[in-house]
Amino acid sequence: MFNTMTVTKAAGALIGALLFLMLANWAASGLYHVGSAGGGEGHGESAQAYTIPVEESEGGGEAEAEEEIDFAALMEAADPAAGEKGFGKCKACHKLDGSDGVGPHLNGVVGRAVASVSGFAYSDAMVSHAGEAPEWTPEALQEFLTNPKADVPGTKMSFAGLKKPEERADLIAYLQSQQ
Ligand code: HEC
Repeated sequence: MFNTMTVTKAAGALIGALLFLMLANWAASGLYHVGSAGGGEGHGESAQAYTIPVEESEGGGEAEAEEEIDFAALMEAADPAAGEKGFGKCKACHKLDGSDGVGPHLNGVVGRAVASVSGFAYSDAMVSHAGEAPEWTPEALQEFLTNPKADVPGTKMSFAGLKKPEERADLIAYLQSQQ
């Protein structure tokens, strides 16, 4: 009698565990299928809600890590002459002769303190950014120029950003030559 009870309990526990494993496995494969069905219709938004964050955190992380390593190399290989052409995209707002336009002058900006041109009315966002990242190092510039509004939320610089790392490196090399 006693033995039978023990065996029954043990069997019950075993079956319970198996059931749990099966459920966990089913849930996991369910998620996986929802995720991989990404573009498929039907599951639509809920499928994307699962896939997008995963892809972004993985892909984004890798891309960032790669970009950091690449950027030092890119700066070494950068072409200031190409950067001079790239600066055409900034000219509407920035000058290199020490005078300010819509934006502050950019001669000497590499290595300059953030939001430090006296007489220029920076946004509060840029002023507080100076507290977090006080200097326009090449790295800080390349981050800002990738997507200004993402790097300094609330900046009044209306510029979408330079998506190509080479383009940013060339431009920063050019700015470095403009003292
Ligand atoms: C539409 C006008 C506009 C364009 C185009 C533009 N900027 Fe700006 N830029 C601004 C304004 C305005 C500010 C001041 C931002 C603030 O105070 O939030 C600024 C700020 C900056 C700063 C910070 C300067 C400092 O003293 O802290 C840098 C660096 C900069 N811009 C680089 C560039 C580069 C490089 C380009 C071209 C790829 C560019 N900008 C294109 C308007 C512009």
